[in-house]
Amino acid sequence: MNAPPDPQAKALAALASAMPEGMLLTADDDLLRFSRDWSGDHYARPLAVARPRSVEEVSALLRHCNAEGIHVVPQGGLTGLVGAAVASFPSGEVVISLERLNKVRSVSAIDFAMVVEAGCILEEAKTRAEAADCILPITFGAQGSCQIGGNVATNAGGFNVLRYGMTRDLVLGLEVVLPDGRVWNGLKTLRKDNRGYDLKQLFIGSEGTLGVITAAALKIFPRPTQIETALVGVESVEKAMELYARARRECSDLLTAFELILRGGIEIAMRSPAAMGDPLSSPYPVYVLIEVSAGGRVDLRALLEGFLGDAGDIVLDGVVASNRAQAARLWMLREMMVEWQGRGGRYLRTDVSVPISSLAAFVSDALAALKASHPDALPVTYGHVGDGNIHLNIVPPEHMGPEEMEALFHATEEVIFDVIDNHGGSISAEHGVGKVKQQAFLDRADPVALELAGRIKDALDPKHIMSEGRILAARNARGHD
Ligand code: LAC
Ligand code: ZN
Repeated sequence: MNAPPDPQAKALAALASAMPEGMLLTADDDLLRFSRDWSGDHYARPLAVARPRSVEEVSALLRHCNAEGIHVVPQGGLTGLVGAAVASFPSGEVVISLERLNKVRSVSAIDFAMVVEAGCILEEAKTRAEAADCILPITFGAQGSCQIGGNVATNAGGFNVLRYGMTRDLVLGLEVVLPDGRVWNGLKTLRKDNRGYDLKQLFIGSEGTLGVITAAALKIFPRPTQIETALVGVESVEKAMELYARARRECSDLLTAFELILRGGIEIAMRSPAAMGDPLSSPYPVYVLIEVSAGGRVDLRALLEGFLGDAGDIVLDGVVASNRAQAARLWMLREMMVEWQGRGGRYLRTDVSVPISSLAAFVSDALAALKASHPDALPVTYGHVGDGNIHLNIVPPEHMGPEEMEALFHATEEVIFDVIDNHGGSISAEHGVGKVKQQAFLDRADPVALELAGRIKDALDPKHIMSEGRILAARNARGHD
């Protein structure tokens, strides 16, 4: 005799039969690639994975899930770092993968706008902008895997924020399916539109908690005809920040990236054979990767070389890439450092920001505090210092057991966050909150802001079916239910 089906299995069977053939994956093998994020730190088997092909299918799916109280989590390329897009466990969620909704709907080099569906890989969107002699400036290591919907839902940052802003600054309009299945068509490419509340801002950075973004209208820019890249060595973070202040004035708005890497990070990058040894003739305590870009009749090379020449009192040594391959090698050091820092194992990631004027003091205070409290832990310090954003990561000593490691991560994070609080900074500059930074976020949140955020969640997702427990605590943990 067969056991009666459990309510969850019944709900899934009903969902499968209400959806078009083949939309729902439920076999273990099929679910695998939707279960673990890129960091490898977060894993949960979803109840099922829905792969809608159209906005109408997303709408039908959400209408059904809302009516039946089935929890869902939208998922992009799984490159987020705060555990927001993997399914929640043990309560169970259906993953909504946007990978089949991946068209570039339009690119206009006159409007300087493109309309892209959520599942389009960022790199593909960038390539399509380039085909129109434009650029979509969102740029970071995961661009070959991450998806536009995820970029918008997490307000992604990256290397070019300094010049072009966060993803939020690049969104002109959105198409969103609300938790009850209604479609909000806010997909406009108007540069100016001051009619009332700017609703799209609610969904940008909402990490899947308020609705499913199905398409975005994004700003694009004239493609620079010249790009110059330099790596320079300086004596200290203070000196790097002095150089930055000068670069902002002397390179004007042509400054596209200003990335800081401490020597430890360069040594990690050099473990990769692709790094081809030390980038400068001798080691320096602090490195800065600078990029300027321009179109038109600017002598960009003269501008960068002139700027660096005048900064001879700060710059100890440096190289200006003489071609794109050399520039790519300099950027590769940055990527190799990120890839090799954990030696293939776990490490603590932080993503903090302070006012730019406090950045050097923050780094020196945080490193001193870590050295005093955890001399065995290896800090790896780099970041987008033009945005006041530092990644101060902690690599555990080799052969540390998992429990000890968790305790180390917890304790060192507290040390770093204490220093951040002292400098009036943010515990999450660009990676978001998700689950990983939730407690630290809630501990510091303004009660009025938290109450308003809770009301926004209740208004848009009254049954709390969407990405419950990310950013804000789950409703049953908030004591409302
Ligand atoms: C970086 C990402 C991880 O800066 O934020 O490399
Ligand atoms: Zn970053």
